[in-house]
Amino acid sequence: MRKQIAAANWKMNLTLEQGEQLLDGILSKPHSLKADQQAVFAVPFPYLLMAQQKLAGKQNVFVAAQNCYSKKNGAYTGEVSVEMLQSIGITYVVLGHSERREYFQESNRLLADKVNICIDYSITPIFCCGEPLEIREANTQNEYVAKQLEESLYHLSAEQLQKIVIAYEPIWAIGTGKTASSAQAQEMHAFIRTQLAGKYGAAIADTISILYGGSVKAANAVDIFSQADVDGGLVGGASLIVDEFVAIINALK
Ligand code: PGA
Repeated sequence: MRKQIAAANWKMNLTLEQGEQLLDGILSKPHSLKADQQAVFAVPFPYLLMAQQKLAGKQNVFVAAQNCYSKKNGAYTGEVSVEMLQSIGITYVVLGHSERREYFQESNRLLADKVNICIDYSITPIFCCGEPLEIREANTQNEYVAKQLEESLYHLSAEQLQKIVIAYEPIWAIGTGKTASSAQAQEMHAFIRTQLAGKYGAAIADTISILYGGSVKAANAVDIFSQADVDGGLVGGASLIVDEFVAIINALK
C-alpha cells in the first residue's frame, strides 16, 4: 500500500503563538494514523523548530519546510539550504508550489536542481504540479503536467523517484473554494501514474504517493481521498482550522 498523507500547507500565515495553538489543538483531538498513513505540517521557516519539538515522539507525524534553495551553502542571502533543514531533523520539503512558480519565477529546471539536492540530503520533496485555468479550459492539462514531470523529475533513477511524493494541484482550485471533482482528480492522478509507469515501469509508479491539492476541506476529503489514485491531500486554508484538518487526517483511506 502506498503511503497516504494529509499534508498541511500553512503558507505565509499565523504568528508563532497562533501556530502553537493550532498544533496543540490538532494534537489534542483523537486521530488514528495507521501504519501507512502520515500527517505532515509544512510550516513557515521560523516555526520549524517549534513544530519539531511539539511533534517529537508522535508516530507518523512530520514537519516539512515550504521551500529550500538549490545550492548546498554559500553567499545566497535570505535563502535556506537543505543542509540546514537536515541539521534540524526535517524530512519533507514542499517544492514547486504554484505560488512559488508564479510569484518567484521557479522554473521546471530550477525545481529539478532542488529535487536533486533534497534527495542528496535524504529529504523527501513533495513535488507540486498542476495547470492554470486557461490550460484546463483548452483541455491541454495532461500535456502541461506531463512536461512539468518530465523537466523536473525524469532525470531521476527509479530508486530516486521512489523518494518523491507528488502533489497535483490545479491552480484554478487553489484557495478558490472551487475543488476539482473527485472524478477530475482521479483522472489526472491516473494520468500521472501512467506517465510514471511509462518511464519507470508500473511497479515503481504504483509505489509513488500522489496527493491532491486545491480547496480540500473536511466536507470533500472523504470523497476525494477515496479515489483509487489519490493518496491524500496537500491542504492550505482548511489546514489552519483544527477541526477541519483533524477531519481531513481522519479521511485518509
Ligand atoms: P487550498 O491550498 O487548500 O487553500 O486551496 C492548497 C495549496 O495551495 O496547497
